[in-house]
Order: sequence, then C-alpha cells, then structure tokens
Amino acid sequence: MNIEERYKILSFPDLGDERGNLVVVEGGIQIPFDIKRIFYIYGSDDTVVRGQHANLRSEFVLINVAGTSKVKVDDGKETRVIELNQPRMGVYLSKMLWKEMYDFSADSVLLVLSNEHYDAGEYVREYDEYLRLLGH
Ligand code: TYD
Repeated sequence: MNIEERYKILSFPDLGDERGNLVVVEGGIQIPFDIKRIFYIYGSDDTVVRGQHANLRSEFVLINVAGTSKVKVDDGKETRVIELNQPRMGVYLSKMLWKEMYDFSADSVLLVLSNEHYDAGEYVREYDEYLRLLGH
C-alpha cells in the first residue's frame, strides 16, 4: 500500500448562514469510523513537536478548528506534510502510520477524533520498533 492510501484529506460542508459558520462531522459519515474518543491540543507553539508515534489500532481524524498546524506522515518509506489551515478541513490517518504534529500557530486548537479508546499499549513510540513492525 503506498502512502497516498494511508491518509486522506477531508473537506467538510459548511452549514452556516448569516449567523455564522456551522460545520458538522458525524461518525460513519464525514468521519470514516465510529468515534470513540475526542481530544484536543492547544497551547503548543512553533517550537513543539507532538505525536512521534504510530498506533497499532487507532485511526485518527485531525481538524484545526482554530489556527493552523502541520502534520507529517511517514509510512516507513515516504513522508508527506499536510497543512491544516481551515476549520472545514480534516485529515484522516490510518493505523500504523508514523505521525508528527508541529508548527502550531499560537491560536491553534487541534481537534482529534479516534475510532479507539486510549490504550497506551497500542502506541508505538520508537521509530525503530515501528520499522521492525512494518517488516523493514
Ligand atoms: P501523547 O500521546 O504524548 O500526546 P500527543 O501524541 O498528542 O503529543 O500524550 C500525552 C499524555 O496524555 C500521555 O501521558 C498519554 C496521555 N493521553 C491519554 O491519557 N489519553 C489520550 O487519549 C491521549 C491522546 C493521551
């Protein structure tokens, strides 16, 4: 499977009107899984690198509901950088994809949805271990 099949840029419809914007994401509709976990990251800045792990089971959708950040994905062979820069945009990340989030704007609020509850045991935090699990 090549890296382009391991992540997907998502574009959400805006149901807003003259009162303002309204973006809806529903599990199994705009989000390609049933949502079990939501967390959000804010107060990071452009000196911080977060993530730096892969997940055995968790898939994610990342949405910068405010501000901007970048996500670097790495499948052990290739990397891609996705800039999250509008609240209507998300990126889906498959399981077993190495990821780093960085270059957070001061006002960044990065919303993360996942198909799994938190389980520290399914986080692969060593890059060498990630490559080994991929069979590289
Ligand atoms: P970490 O995985 O380092 O966050 P990120 O990858 O977004 O930089 O998590 C930081 C801490 O929070 C770590 O002790 C694990 C804990 N944590 C949970 O308990 N539940 C969660 O859903 C997440 C994402 C983290």
